[in-house]
Amino acid sequence: MSSQPKSFQLSPELHNYLLDHGTPPDEVQQGLIEATAALGGISVMQIAPEQGALMTMLTQLIGAKRAIEVGTFTGYSALAIARGLPEDGQLICCDVSDEWTKVGEPFWEKAGVRDRIDLRIAPALETLAAIDEADAFDLAFIDADKTNYANYVEELARLVRPGGLILVDNVLWGGNVIDRNESSEDTLAIRAFNAKVAADERFDTVMLPIADGLTFLRVR
Ligand SMILES: C[S@@+](CC[C@H](N)C(=O)[O-])C[C@H]1O[C@@H](n2cnc3c(N)ncnc32)[C@H](O)[C@@H]1O
Repeated sequence: MSSQPKSFQLSPELHNYLLDHGTPPDEVQQGLIEATAALGGISVMQIAPEQGALMTMLTQLIGAKRAIEVGTFTGYSALAIARGLPEDGQLICCDVSDEWTKVGEPFWEKAGVRDRIDLRIAPALETLAAIDEADAFDLAFIDADKTNYANYVEELARLVRPGGLILVDNVLWGGNVIDRNESSEDTLAIRAFNAKVAADERFDTVMLPIADGLTFLRVR
């Protein structure tokens, strides 16, 4: 299959090798990759297929029944999580864009998981603050505006049960986190976020170098 240059810290050859030795995207996922690519450069926001496969497996492994996603875009990560849920599972998806999430909805339908997904179009902090169910969720995924990552974790620490998992995307930020010449607002936010959660005693924290960096926060 063609290379998706998303696990950026691997050579293209090793990245291809990795893709060739895991479960490849199926027809529905491939269709969503293509529909997203047709949007142009913005398609880089989509998570890597190998990350999607990992997220489906994690959802299954922890036996997640209820999940929340912050940052849905065209729905690849939502599809990955929803597929790992049982038939009566629920995934609340938070995004501000009707336009982008509409691209994904037909693919959720095709995959037979549309009825597991509760899409809420509003600033995610508002959506999360309005959920009044402490410890009710098993899994969360954060992949929206980087400057709000710390705020999202505060809300999700309330909503995700002890033993549950919060996944955080783009924590390596293309390597910018260790580039002293990089001081964009997003880079500073991610650096500060990474330092904060590493010292946060509410979580066991593991940062994985898959794709653009994925942090696991296991709620203690
Ligand atoms: C990197 S993309 C998410 C990619 C997605 N996880 C995927 O697999 O394709 C970030 C998304 O966050 C959304 N977003 C940005 N700021 C937001 C906010 N304040 N509240 C909710 N969503 C937001 C954007 O509309 C965009 O769709």
